[in-house]
Amino acid sequence: MNAQHRYIELLKNSLLNEPYLENEVRLLYIFGMMASGRPVDTDVVRDINRRLPDWVETVRLARQEGRIWWNLNVNDATGNPKTLNLRNFCEFSHTMVGRKRLDNITNCLDIVRTENVPGDLIETGAWRGGATILMRGYLSAWEMNDRTVWVADSFEGLPVPSLPQDKGYDFSATKIPILSISLEEVQENFRRYSLLDDQVRFLKGWFCDTLPKAPIGQLAVLRLDGDLYESTMDGLNALYSKVSPGGFVIVDDYGDFAPCRNAVNEFRQLHGINEPIEKIDWTGVFWRKLS
Ligand SMILES: C[S@@+](CC[C@H](N)C(=O)[O-])C[C@H]1O[C@@H](n2cnc3c(N)ncnc32)[C@H](O)[C@@H]1O
Repeated sequence: MNAQHRYIELLKNSLLNEPYLENEVRLLYIFGMMASGRPVDTDVVRDINRRLPDWVETVRLARQEGRIWWNLNVNDATGNPKTLNLRNFCEFSHTMVGRKRLDNITNCLDIVRTENVPGDLIETGAWRGGATILMRGYLSAWEMNDRTVWVADSFEGLPVPSLPQDKGYDFSATKIPILSISLEEVQENFRRYSLLDDQVRFLKGWFCDTLPKAPIGQLAVLRLDGDLYESTMDGLNALYSKVSPGGFVIVDDYGDFAPCRNAVNEFRQLHGINEPIEKIDWTGVFWRKLS
């Protein structure tokens, strides 16, 4: 591996919080003990790898796949089993996109770079910014100084569903507060990786307002990660025509959320898009736009 590849791998490891993964398991353990009214054993906290190897392995595997790991089965103080959902205070990494979807981003960028596919990079739905930090890091590693990374988000979480297609999928800030991350926090995350500069531009607001008038020319990578039908369709309607021939369309939630999948399928059918959809992992897909 050369230095560029090593840097990009280190960036992925950091974005996934893998160097400090055990600390997440330590917190799970402490919350689990608190919920079941038992004392925290400081030896377990210190030596978590040896004392709770299954927990560490479970979290490690979940991080590879970008899967849920924060649900904990415990017995409460009266001995009854219950599941704790610790997501809203235990999700710490800078991206919820797992390793395989991060690898997909850099695989696409390798092709964009080696085949000179023109255009900027965008993610619609950035959360803490992790996937876009990776994009900016990639440009930096390969000294690709003529492209911009666009970071589009409300920076206040998902909208309350307004379309029938999204009925039952209310992930807005009152329901899942951890999905609401401010612009300042995302900018601070870029800064911590020394990647906040004028090659990163932020589009703050609802996609239906920001994307149609964004001053974007061409795109080499369009990454859609807004979960909903509305958010996915707004991204496709505003930006698909800007993707260069040879560029990539990546959809994070195709497998996980039917509304997102329906938006993609409808859009592809309406516009006669026949390029094959390729699977990345259990939820992510992408296709390469040929013309
Ligand atoms: C699942 S998170 C994105 C995860 C992120 N790509 C990562 O690397 O971890 C979804 C994000 O999309 C944003 N979002 C969803 N629909 C939106 C819309 N219609 N307008 C603006 N932001 C939206 C939310 O605020 C949230 O930050």
